[in-house]
Amino acid sequence: MGDIALPCFRFSRELRQAPPKIASAIAENIMGLEGSATCSVVGGYLNFRISEEYLGGKLLSEILERGEDYGGSDEGKGKTVVLDYSSPNVAKPFHIGHLGSTVIGHSLKKLHEFYGYKCVGVNHLGDWGTQFGKMIVAYRKWGDRETVEREGADGLVALYVRFHNEAENDPSLEDEARVEFHKMEQGDEEDLALRKWFIELSFREYDVIYKKLGIEFDSYAGESFYTDKMDEQVEKLRECGLLKVDNGASIVDLSEYGMPPCLILRSDGSTLYPTRDIAAAVYRARTYDFDKCIYVTAAAQSLHFAQWFRVVDLMGYPWADRLVHVPYGMVSIGGEKLATRTGNVILLKDLLSTAVDKVSDIITVKNPSLSGKEKDEISEAVGVGAVIFHYLLNNRLRDMSFSMEDALNFDGNTGPYAMYSYARTCSIKRRAEADGIEPLCGTVSTEEERQLLLTLSRFGEVVKEAVDEYEPSLVTRYILDLCADFNRFYHDCKILNAEDDETKRMRLAETLAVNAVLGRALSLICIKKTEKI
Ligand code: ARG
Repeated sequence: MGDIALPCFRFSRELRQAPPKIASAIAENIMGLEGSATCSVVGGYLNFRISEEYLGGKLLSEILERGEDYGGSDEGKGKTVVLDYSSPNVAKPFHIGHLGSTVIGHSLKKLHEFYGYKCVGVNHLGDWGTQFGKMIVAYRKWGDRETVEREGADGLVALYVRFHNEAENDPSLEDEARVEFHKMEQGDEEDLALRKWFIELSFREYDVIYKKLGIEFDSYAGESFYTDKMDEQVEKLRECGLLKVDNGASIVDLSEYGMPPCLILRSDGSTLYPTRDIAAAVYRARTYDFDKCIYVTAAAQSLHFAQWFRVVDLMGYPWADRLVHVPYGMVSIGGEKLATRTGNVILLKDLLSTAVDKVSDIITVKNPSLSGKEKDEISEAVGVGAVIFHYLLNNRLRDMSFSMEDALNFDGNTGPYAMYSYARTCSIKRRAEADGIEPLCGTVSTEEERQLLLTLSRFGEVVKEAVDEYEPSLVTRYILDLCADFNRFYHDCKILNAEDDETKRMRLAETLAVNAVLGRALSLICIKKTEKI
């Protein structure tokens, strides 16, 4: 019975009046609607109906004027947000579990940028830690330089998987690995050289994946970057009287906060994951003077973050309450099995290339006129986009089962469908330009257009909520609403072949507005737009 409703029930106790009376009183005294909306009273509700003149006039021209900036804000101007995301562990598989951190993290970066924040994307690479001890042991026992060099990251993962299989029967391997890691921390040159090589091999793979996803980082300062920055923090912890020795290890007791202790040093003096995170946070506060530092990881790490967030708070750092952990649920693969040579881990690169190959097959059937480089580029964008879209459709905290078939369904609520709708707006734009047709704002005349413009008007609110809740899926779901409205409009209303000139130009204006908003929305969730499919 309207586009917006104000329920007046909650005022009734305070004002000691019946809700319909309150609604009428507001309706009689309301000011400033000036043709943009009318209001009416229905029971205890005050309903507003946005006018056709406003939707087709003021709103539509504002969208066209601001183009892809429409919906953004300068709320974050002058503020800095550091985002720590993706952060794979070198020499371990870059697997499907990292998809969440990578795309949620990057989308949050884009959302914050759209809100005017200065953003610093940090890839906190796992380039230090006990896995290097394991890898060194595994390489010396079963590896050879030539094979690993040729196989790259896959070769490393194979060694890593083998280490774990063999260590199940022979736990002494774990001890050997610890010794090797300790040697490395003490500066053993041979071990350090191997580590450097493992990192280079892993980077060859990361570069390919990040390029596919269109992601770049501002900093690759990984865990090893903090090697010489931890002593200062350990010292400070000691000075604050926070450090306790327990079985030879140094810990911070957190029992008062209902959490297990935070481990700072092992009994052999080596540092741990939380030690490096504490040093990293101090470094970031000094270097970037952040207003927020966001960490995107699997929910399995929630305790780790809660623990060391509390520790830096106890250390008295004033920025402790500006640290934000953004956890996400687990991904499993439903439907078709994606086989890998490396056991039961699903590598991210395999997932992406499977999607791209399948899209290429679909496009061969659907659009035989595309070929060569253009077809490859489109298949790549749509295949990767399909994976991202399917993943980001999910509320981030919910565990999800990834289905390749669902992700690639061109007729479902998918990335390809959204990208196809976007390409449709591009083709109308191209035709209008070729025919010299100019957009014109006016008054909305059909229900389809009315609905479309109402949805367009919601974009800013959706973005705001996505920023506030750290929830890219709100944008993904908005994209589906917008595509549904646009496709209904496209099928039921004539656009460039509308009878009279004014209607034609008005509908072109509406299509251009969809083009701007949908284009921006897709890029907010890290999808590369294609003007053709
Ligand atoms: N490397 C870790 C992993 O793969 C994620 C690192 C997250 N960032 C951080 N500052 N702890 O699980």
